[in-house]
Order: sequence, then C-alpha cells, then structure tokens
Amino acid sequence: MKKVEIHPEAVERVKKFTITDNNLGFGKYVAPVMIQAIYDDGQWQRFDLLPYGPLLLDPCTKVLHYGQEIFEGMKTFRQPNDQIKMFRPEQNARRFNQSARRMSMPEIPEEQFLNACDVISAYCKNLVPRRLGESLYLRPFMIATEVGLGIKPSKQFLFVIIASPSGNYFAGDSVKVWIERDDIRASQGGIGFAKTGGNYAASLQSYTRSLQAGCDQTMWLDSSHKYIEEMSGMNFMCVINGEIHTPALSDTILDGITRKSVLELAKHEKIKVVEDKIAVDDLLKKIENGECTEAFVCGTASIICPISSFLDKDGRTHHVKDGSGKISMLLRDKLIAIQAGKTDGPEGWMHPVKEIHF
Ligand code: COI
Repeated sequence: MKKVEIHPEAVERVKKFTITDNNLGFGKYVAPVMIQAIYDDGQWQRFDLLPYGPLLLDPCTKVLHYGQEIFEGMKTFRQPNDQIKMFRPEQNARRFNQSARRMSMPEIPEEQFLNACDVISAYCKNLVPRRLGESLYLRPFMIATEVGLGIKPSKQFLFVIIASPSGNYFAGDSVKVWIERDDIRASQGGIGFAKTGGNYAASLQSYTRSLQAGCDQTMWLDSSHKYIEEMSGMNFMCVINGEIHTPALSDTILDGITRKSVLELAKHEKIKVVEDKIAVDDLLKKIENGECTEAFVCGTASIICPISSFLDKDGRTHHVKDGSGKISMLLRDKLIAIQAGKTDGPEGWMHPVKEIHF
C-alpha cells in the first residue's frame, strides 16, 4: 500500500480552519484539504494530502467530453468519547470498484481507498460536527485525465477525496415527490447501478420539472414506465400493511449502503421486508385505500426522510397517510444513534479512524 504524503501547507490550513455557522446544510462548507492520487503507467503512483484547490485540466481532457467519472458518498461521525468513526466504509470501497469496472477505470485496492479516507478524516477531526445527524461527508471521486478526443478509455486518472462538514440534505422534515412518467434514468445493461456522474446529469431535466411542480425529488420508473426504481439521489421504500417494501436490486438501481442498512435494521426490529417489483399505479391505489401508510427515501446524504405526497403527471396529488413517518422515523433514529455511537449497531458497521497527532 502507498503511504499518503502529507504536505505541510495542508496541515497549516486545516489547523486554522473553523466554521461558526449552526446550519451546516449539505455540501455548503468544504474542508481546506484534499486527498489526491495519480494513476499512470498502469498503476497508482502516489497519494498526497494537499491544500484544497482547483484542478487544472487541459480542455481536451477525456472526462470533460465523455464523462468517464465515478464517485462515492460516505460519512465520518463524532462519537461520545470524541473518537471519530466511519460508517461501513468498506462497502463504499467495494462499490467504488464496481463502478470503476463498469466505467473502464482502474480499481483502487480496498485497503488503499480506506487508508485515504482514514487520513483525510483524521486530519479533519476538528471539522467533524458534534450535533446528532451531522457528519463529515466524504466525497471520493475519480476522473479520466488523459488528453485527447478519441473515444477510448483513458490511461491516466486522478482520484480525489474532498470532505464537507454537513447536516441535513433536505431543508424540510419530509419531501414531496414527482413521479417521472416520461424520462427514464437507466435501462438494462446500462450504467444505472454505477455511481457515475452521467446518471445524475440525466436526472436534472426531471429535477427542474419536479421543482416547477412544487416537489423536491423525482421518482424514477423502469424503461417499461411501470415499476418504481429509485429517486435521483436515494433509494425508495414504503410501508404496506406494516411491511417494508422496496424495489429489488437490478443493474438499473444503485445498491445503496443506507438501503441495505435500513433493511437489516428493519429485520432486527421484526419488521418484514419485501424486495420485489413495485408497480407505481399499484402503489398509488394502496396509498388511496390506506394499505400504504408510509413512504420514504434513504441514502447516505439524506439518511431517511419521509415522503408526504406524490404528484403525478395528470396533476393528481396522492397524500401518504402517515406523511411524517412513524416506522421510517423509528429506523432513522436507530440508524443515527448507531452512527453517533449512542447505541451499538451490528458488528463491524463503525470503523474507527486512527488518531493522528499533528
Ligand atoms: C449520497 O447520498 O451520498 C449521494 O451520493 C447522493 C447525492 C448525489 C446527494
């Protein structure tokens, strides 16, 4: 494994950095340091902790034209004894490499990925927020840096991790959802399961539509326009007759780490979990007849947030019976308590970050 070289200027910057704002929001503040690693000649050459700053790219750099890019979202939490811990980071390392394979990019050895996350978290220890539900959000990403306009996989790459002390992703306590009946996010054999910028870029036209309709998020259907897949930046779940239902994973759905954690927690609470196809029109009927009592989104950034209503293209709004989410809030509280170290979660979920004195 390559050691991360620490640049003295990065240490100076992080020592001086403070945030006084009580409302961190999401991605509003960014730590003054970043990890940067260079891939060339078929291997990862070096890893550095540098001062945060712009990336200088030739206008012919492949990522700017062909979108060869992947990223992750993960979190470091402050514990009651002031230690810091990451939530299931090995899952992110694994998913990062799955995305890399689909996008013809080099993998990063898991141990190397985790070490880079450890180093930036340790140097940013003072920036890990203290309030419940807040965290240091890490955004590892990789871009194709070879220069040239030929459509072929790049041979050079840049891996970067930036860190953002963050709070709530959504401003409100619940979200209104726009059912996207026209655009499709992903199709079979495509890149829907990969965490790559193109999937998010493809969601933006619908995001604008959803905002114009007074909603917060798009709910995507599969290419038959019938079955629910996921939201633009989170997974989807609902409670039907007391059971949690969520679309079964496929190559068109992101394998969310919060998704799998919520399902594990629900099973632990003896709540039945069903992973299967969910036809959107069936769901709307069940909302109307009261069989579906709750619906919610879940993801790393958004944690768990109840859905209060669904707006359809025909102009009809479907209000969810329990729009503030009894079961979803129970699961949210459990998850947040585990992440904050207030209760023990399943073995291995919280990864201690080694203290670095500087
Ligand atoms: C995350 O939840 O970490 C994500 O990556 C979704 C994001 C685009 C808000």
